Amino acid sequence: MTDQPRPGGPGNLGATPVARMGYGAMQLFESPTVDDAATVLRRAVELGVNHIDTASFYGPGEVNRRIRAALAPYPEDLVIVSKVGARYTGEQPIPLAAAQRPADLRAAVEDDLRQLGLDCVPVVNLRRMDLGPGVAAEGDQIVDVDDQLTEMIALRDEGKIGAIGVSAVPVEVLRRALPAGIACVQNAYSLLDRSQEETLQLCAAEGIAWVPYFPLGSSFPGFPKVADHPAVAEVAGDLGVTGAQVGLAWLLAHAPNTLLIPGTRSVAHLQENVAAGDVTLSAAALERLDAIGTTAPQPHGVEPFQR
Ligand SMILES: NC(=O)c1ccc[n+]([C@@H]2O[C@H](COP(=O)([O-])OP(=O)(O)OC[C@H]3O[C@@H](n4cnc5c(N)ncnc54)[C@H](OP(=O)(O)O)[C@@H]3O)[C@@H](O)[C@H]2O)c1
Repeated sequence: MTDQPRPGGPGNLGATPVARMGYGAMQLFESPTVDDAATVLRRAVELGVNHIDTASFYGPGEVNRRIRAALAPYPEDLVIVSKVGARYTGEQPIPLAAAQRPADLRAAVEDDLRQLGLDCVPVVNLRRMDLGPGVAAEGDQIVDVDDQLTEMIALRDEGKIGAIGVSAVPVEVLRRALPAGIACVQNAYSLLDRSQEETLQLCAAEGIAWVPYFPLGSSFPGFPKVADHPAVAEVAGDLGVTGAQVGLAWLLAHAPNTLLIPGTRSVAHLQENVAAGDVTLSAAALERLDAIGTTAPQPHGVEPFQR
């Protein structure tokens, strides 16, 4: 890690130091041009972001290729995190299907290596389908986590991946995965959806990074936005910041092992999100926000999503 100040302060992703404020690249395949995507990615790195989340099934491959086009040769301290367990179908409303078998996981890592132009993907999340939202695994796509971890460990032993994370897992699956050496957990979690609090606490106790997806409420339609909650808007008004910044600052304040990967295609939103790393919430504001609890209604309009 260089001496550059890191947005959100310093955090750890496995054994690797990263800024606590990272960037989620999922939406970049929707950016109108490769240049638009590159502008956002390069600005993120300029601002000190060194943790970028991606997957070979975003696009498919297009997000990885855009990351490579924008950032290679990669800054030495950049940690690219990918995920395996799904494949791109192009169908609507969710263009993904399960790809959970060990051979699927290996093929996805090979896709990442080729698309990103890397010899080793620093961290790869095993994206299970135990929890929603998202597609469910059926038939021969229902695979025991131990069989999947055996393949992930083999990929790590071969040097194709640097560290293993897990995603969309309940607390008991995380407990089973712990002996593999887990660097991070990605589950859906935000100020409005705290259903994964027990898993967060297990991560804190085990020194595992908690990297919530949907930190602002998601880029998918049908999910409530954190910034729209009246208590969030009120705290934001009092502080002269935006609701999105309050939502991100609350996540950082709530648990020290939290690393953030908010997604955006907009440089203005990126800058706003990075600046949320400097927002301090008073004890009174935190109390007010803590009291929101899980208020997120069931998502609607996204039928194939399970929850
Ligand atoms: N492990 C998994 O299964 C999984 C699943 C989903 C996502 N992810 C990862 O998690 C990342 C974050 O998830 P996400 O992007 O779906 O959800 P999110 O970060 O909660 O929300 C992104 C949405 O918020 C908007 N936004 C961002 N910054 C904003 C701001 N400052 N003010 C107002 N609106 C703002 C974005 O629109 P604009 O483009 O207009 O800014 C976008 O629609 C993804 O990029 C992906 O890398 C992982």
